Amino acid sequence: MNATPSSSDFILQVEHLSMKFGGLIAIGDLSFQARRGEITALIGPNGAGKTTVFNCITGFYKPSEGMITLNRKDGSSYLLERLPNHEIPARAKVARTFQNIRLFSGMTLLENLLVAQHNKLMKASGYTFLGLFGFSSYRQASAESIELAKHWLEKANLVDRADDPAGDLPYGAQRRLEIARAMCTGPELLCLDEPAAGLNPKESAALNELLNDIKDNTGTSILLIEHDMSVVMQISDHVVVLEYGRKISDGSPQSVRTDPRVIAAYLGVDDEEVETVLTEVGDEAVIEQLDTGPDSAHGPGSSASMMAGPVSDSVEHADQGERVTVSRGASKAAQVDARARAAVASKPVKPVAAAKPASPAPAKPTGRSPTPKPRGGRK
Ligand SMILES: Nc1ncnc2c1ncn2[C@@H]1O[C@H](COP(=O)(O)OP(=O)(O)OP(=O)(O)O)[C@@H](O)[C@H]1O
Ligand SMILES: [Mg+2]
Repeated sequence: MNATPSSSDFILQVEHLSMKFGGLIAIGDLSFQARRGEITALIGPNGAGKTTVFNCITGFYKPSEGMITLNRKDGSSYLLERLPNHEIPARAKVARTFQNIRLFSGMTLLENLLVAQHNKLMKASGYTFLGLFGFSSYRQASAESIELAKHWLEKANLVDRADDPAGDLPYGAQRRLEIARAMCTGPELLCLDEPAAGLNPKESAALNELLNDIKDNTGTSILLIEHDMSVVMQISDHVVVLEYGRKISDGSPQSVRTDPRVIAAYLGVDDEEVETVLTEVGDEAVIEQLDTGPDSAHGPGSSASMMAGPVSDSVEHADQGERVTVSRGASKAAQVDARARAAVASKPVKPVAAAKPASPAPAKPTGRSPTPKPRGGRK
């Protein structure tokens, strides 16, 4: 029997997180957890709120509501929404990369990785003088920093280009350098915002290898925003799906990939196709999934439902009396929900004796690729 996971099993707990920009609710009552040592993917269509979640976790935005708890290996816990920005990497050990690459393009690869260790080196230099006079403590710290930088250049398969300017690297190599730079800060949680954006299949494979290496050999947990399904499905242990700032699915890659709400909302099903998807996936399976809730190993705690809140077409903004209207019927996930519930309501109730056995029936073959092409362009 599996023991109930305790909070120390989770490196990150996001509870009832909301972020409002004027009248726009970018994130609405979002709850999810990321397990220590795992790769947790945050996916969703363009504008779903993924980067906003990262910005709340890493202190770029202060959330309008909610709690973000970071549990470190040593047992200490931090409420990230209350920590000053600069303490989030230093004390809570959270590092991130950005959707748009942010390297020092005129500096060499090695220098980029040394800059990431600036705090450690400044401390060792006694904030200048120990460094100026070449004290041994500073020389040792300096040598250690170079060793760590070399270690991550090797892991990222970039050591041959250590002395080249970062701006001269191809795109995929720049992405790996950003990850190497983040790893030089010794993070316990690494947040990666679309690291595979713009990568060719070979570069994507190299990225997968690097992320798996980090997961297997450093104990660093990874929170990954990604549109590239080949990356998400191959390396994630757990996937959380957002649509219009709301969580619409949460579970293993396999369960999320066959969740009709995800197919409808994220994978680009046209309005008229929603019904076809329901039929193809098998309405029995849909209804069962809607009724059973999230994967118990990863799903939110008892305080949060699988849907963080009802997905509606318009949202009230109580503070300012504003109402923001998302186009009517915009949420494909909501359409699937509504139709599945209508199907449940109209279904004749079976007598108890005729009830199905406990083990679920295998899903009907759909003939549809479970990972259709994502909708919308990439930024
Ligand atoms: N600083 C801001 N001010 C106003 N609105 C914002 C701000 N940041 C994000 N938003 C809005 O919040 C919503 C979510 O944006 P976000 O960038 O988090 O989406 P995303 O899921 O990362 O999308 P993408 O996949 O395109 O990167 C969008 O409607 C966006 O316009
Ligand atoms: Mg984004």
